[in-house]
Amino acid sequence: MKTENLLTGDRPTGKLHIGHYIGSLKNRVQLQSEYNSYIMIADQQALTDNARNPEKIKNSLIEVALDYLSVGIDPSQSNIFIQSQIPELNELTMHYLNIVTVSRLQRNPTVKTEIKEKNFNQSIPAGFLIYPVSQAADITAFKATVIPVGDDQLPMIEQTNEIVRSFNSIYKKEVLVEAKALLPNKESRRLPGIDGKAKMSKSLNNAIYLSDSADIVQKKIMSMYTDPNHIRVEDPGNVENNTVFTYLDAFCTDKEKLIGMKEHYQRGGLGDVKVKRYLNDILQAELEPIRKKRIEYEKNQDYVYGVLRQGSQNARAIAAQTLDEVRGAIGINYFENR
Ligand code: TRP
Repeated sequence: MKTENLLTGDRPTGKLHIGHYIGSLKNRVQLQSEYNSYIMIADQQALTDNARNPEKIKNSLIEVALDYLSVGIDPSQSNIFIQSQIPELNELTMHYLNIVTVSRLQRNPTVKTEIKEKNFNQSIPAGFLIYPVSQAADITAFKATVIPVGDDQLPMIEQTNEIVRSFNSIYKKEVLVEAKALLPNKESRRLPGIDGKAKMSKSLNNAIYLSDSADIVQKKIMSMYTDPNHIRVEDPGNVENNTVFTYLDAFCTDKEKLIGMKEHYQRGGLGDVKVKRYLNDILQAELEPIRKKRIEYEKNQDYVYGVLRQGSQNARAIAAQTLDEVRGAIGINYFENR
């Protein structure tokens, strides 16, 4: 029997890459048999900094859905739904906004970082500034206790739990429940781009996508950043900050073999091409079945939209229940029992 609810999601701003896969998608597939899983495509959150670019979000939405299904998120076990199709989330957000201060939002570390990255300067969209509150609505609407996310999302969960505690204490009723983050294991966190830069991103053109062909994956691996001082095969090489080894740490399951390879590389005598070929074998084996399924689902978009429609309907029913309780606790259910 599944008793606890799990909720997580992604903003649809592009296709998902293998960093998403190893850092979260793979976990979700494993967790879906343990928890009532709600997997949200956060289109509305994506719109908070893309209001003038809704087409991008719309096009990315189907890509993300395809990625979800092809990695094995199973609609019979997980509710995959679209945030904007659950208007109850917006009303919850409005109620929570009254118990959150502007200065608390301005102090949210993730929001702060993003404001810098996105060069908003003095022109922060109000919807963007308050998205942590909307995220609190996402989480609390489903009374989710388990939130599998990357560590950049910890401030969101902290702020959610503050809202939960404030709400329950102000309205003297245990309506909302606190949530905890579930982080991926250390090797799987924050896979760098193939250029060795901290983040995989579309703009840096340094990501390997789940939808990349076998050829492209191989080319990307062969161009990967390694140890710039490892020039001749016989030179001793560095395995730290060596992207190929970082990826092997994340994807290679034969840890003994990996330890041996690292020692060999550090001693000298193991060439980059060999290590890259090994990584290529491992990644191709992992990605091939995903790619195949993705191509099948691509041909059947009616099915994919059907899954999203059904998932959104189910999600909406749950969110509506929580909203009823919230309205009741605040006391704005004026016409009930009259
Ligand atoms: N903020 C997440 C991201 O940047 C997406 C998201 C929206 C989310 N609502 C959520 C994650 C609720 C976990 C729980 O991709």
